[in-house]
Amino acid sequence: MKIKDLEINGITFLAPLAGVTNMPFRQLIKDCGCAVVCSEMISAKGLFYASEKTTTLLKSQEDERPLSVQIFGSDPVSMGQAAAFINDLGTADIIDINFGCSVKKVIKQGAGVALMKDLVLSQKIIKTVREATSLPFTIKIRSGWDASGDQAVNLAEIAEDQGVDAIAFHPRTAVQGFRGRADWKLIARLKQTVRIPVIGNGDIATPQDAKEMLSQTGCDAVMVGRAAMANPFLLSQIEQYMSHGTFAHPEPRAIFRTMESLTRGYVSYFGEITACRMLRGRLAWFVRGLPGAAVFRRELSILASSGHALEMIRDFEANLKV
Ligand SMILES: Cc1cc2nc3c(=O)[nH]c(=O)nc-3n(C[C@H](O)[C@H](O)[C@H](O)COP(=O)(O)O)c2cc1C
Repeated sequence: MKIKDLEINGITFLAPLAGVTNMPFRQLIKDCGCAVVCSEMISAKGLFYASEKTTTLLKSQEDERPLSVQIFGSDPVSMGQAAAFINDLGTADIIDINFGCSVKKVIKQGAGVALMKDLVLSQKIIKTVREATSLPFTIKIRSGWDASGDQAVNLAEIAEDQGVDAIAFHPRTAVQGFRGRADWKLIARLKQTVRIPVIGNGDIATPQDAKEMLSQTGCDAVMVGRAAMANPFLLSQIEQYMSHGTFAHPEPRAIFRTMESLTRGYVSYFGEITACRMLRGRLAWFVRGLPGAAVFRRELSILASSGHALEMIRDFEANLKV
């Protein structure tokens, strides 16, 4: 599959996840195996004011590429400026606009899924961003504000017309948040509507789910969010399953090495104190279901140093072997 002139080597996209898909996490997923990783959403206004918190989100490394960087906002001028800035930085391979976020704070600014109510403004934003960058340009959308999916189809037609190169589609409504099931029938409808690639998203938890979405909808690639947080090998398992019809389960050893590398990655990216705070939640995801997970989680809740985290991981692994 190609997005504009960018050859995508595989069919799996790591979804943008605010607070999660920072550089160390993306590197981890890339190391495990996946086609494209996405940044978390970055405020166009924040970039405009050069806020330190926002510009930090733009940090990336060569080994993550191809990297998609997602921006959000509701003002065409600052969205265009943000796209131009990212374009000139030279570290992103794709620029994506967030038309799907349903978090109150984002909707209140008229951004994210709020834009799906205002197709005139959406068109302006897409046009400005298209003019600001020659990079492959994608949008990520929801069904819209009702379950019919008409708003998604209308926005997709505008986007294609304005030169957007691919669309990622999470078919839940704005009010649904993450409740209920994603309506994959709407992905099939969108795929019938536009000629540009469609990346299906929503409720993929296993390689079999990905295969089912691809065959039910005809979408060109799949995007995985929440399930990749607990199983960083999932995207690589999907690639294996779609190529060979089988996939390997990671050895416990590989899971522990992954936990160690995330620990080190967080420390060098966030510094010791923030890293430890974040690791208290993150490391617990990986041991879910293993004997001793509850005790590990309890000890993690008072984690004070990365050295302690590495020691806990080593002890957990040793006890598992006994
Ligand atoms: C913690 C969290 C943060 C998210 N942050 C973003 C974001 O920054 N940008 C975005 O477009 N979607 C965001 N999403 C939505 C996901 O990208 C994805 O569309 C959604 O989780 C459905 O896919 P899944 O069923 O594979 O998780 C977020 C979802 C979660 C759970």
